[in-house]
Amino acid sequence: MEKLIISGGKPLRGTVQISGSKNSALPIIAATLLTSEPCTIRGVPNLSDIQFMSDILRWLSVDVKHHRADGVIEARAQQPLGVAPYELVRKMRASVCLLGPLLARLHNCKVSMPGGCVIGDRPIDMHLKGLRRLGAEVVLENGYIHARCNELTGTDVFLGGRFGSTVLGTANVMMAATLAKGTTVIESSACEPEVEDLAEFLVKMGAKIKGAGSHIIEIEGVEQLHGAEHTIITDRIEAATFMIAAAITHGDVEIKGARPEHLWAVREKLEDAGVTVERTNGTVRVKSDAAWQPVDVITMPYPGFPTDMQAQMSALMTVTPGISVITEKVFPNRFMHISEMSRLGADVSLEGSSAIVKGVKRLSGAPVMASDLRASAGLVLAGLAAEGETEVNRVYHVERGYERIDQKLRALGANIERVAE
Ligand code: UD1
Repeated sequence: MEKLIISGGKPLRGTVQISGSKNSALPIIAATLLTSEPCTIRGVPNLSDIQFMSDILRWLSVDVKHHRADGVIEARAQQPLGVAPYELVRKMRASVCLLGPLLARLHNCKVSMPGGCVIGDRPIDMHLKGLRRLGAEVVLENGYIHARCNELTGTDVFLGGRFGSTVLGTANVMMAATLAKGTTVIESSACEPEVEDLAEFLVKMGAKIKGAGSHIIEIEGVEQLHGAEHTIITDRIEAATFMIAAAITHGDVEIKGARPEHLWAVREKLEDAGVTVERTNGTVRVKSDAAWQPVDVITMPYPGFPTDMQAQMSALMTVTPGISVITEKVFPNRFMHISEMSRLGADVSLEGSSAIVKGVKRLSGAPVMASDLRASAGLVLAGLAAEGETEVNRVYHVERGYERIDQKLRALGANIERVAE
């Protein structure tokens, strides 16, 4: 295992290029199961989660070629198998998005239950409800979700839950509905840019989809889909993480490839906190030389403040004078990073699903343990701001979602090294 050693306190300056979106790439790679023809996906980030998804597809007998240096995946699912086993699925919860395409293509499939996750309970009831509405019989047996049907039939499907819409649930139902008989209307669908990107790919494959990116998606089923080429969107969470990296180090960073229209909520909170965010076409520039003010943040489904940016924003607030309140409305228990940030001197208390953050003058470096992908990004940011040396252990978490993060930060002037634990 490896860890990151960060000597904090250096302002980041320069330009960073944002990679392709992990959360777009995963369901899009799964969608290649919907056709026997070859598909080419470009702009794919070189991340362990992408590797896991490619490995599962290979297990399902899909011919997958991953040209890592070029960010290209070529996949051809001529005769896919219908069983995704626990040993592979447990590595990545997102593999649940195999369910929709496998069911639509084969009418009979088994995908292992993805299991728990440190960010809290992650049910899949809405995925299953959606597929049942399309006519599938879905049973949970021996740790597997077993879904089968004679055919899928379009209908209306409501996908709103206690915590709002579901991103991968919407992806699953939308993918299944592309090959259903008749028209499906998903109400309360997730409108994240990654869902829109998936819909774009499906349309290139011959699907008939309207309304992706809104809360109502209409899908008119077709007989079959064909091969397609697609370039995925850039990663808004990586871009937003670098925005906070620039802010928290009082730096000045141009973030190339960032799509300002995907970053409204983060931009607004950073501006409220006193950070300067300039937008140009395809670039966001973040500068921070003035004192910061505390802000209250509530995470919500898109276009609200992303839960995937909560840990990183918490890091900034730990060194912002005054009291900030950060409330989780998507994953109410997603606060594993808080106790680790306290090891760096942060003053944070938890009240239910809110973190009350009292800004301290400075953090001081210490060894910390990453618990999940975004928590580890939050700890890296805290380490960049801390005085002295911070060790972020279990770096593999951060590698699930950030391509070459140490190299990108080093190129901006950070003092960061990757060493064996
Ligand atoms: C996706 C993202 C993840 C992000 C999350 C929320 C990918 C690969 N992952 O995860 O990075 O943090 O969206 O933006 O795209 N829920 C239910 N029942 C369900 C499904 C979800 O109650 O059947 C709840 C969840 O527990 C959570 C909320 O709905 O409270 C949103 O979850 P969801 O949008 O489904 O997250 P994912 O799609 O798994």
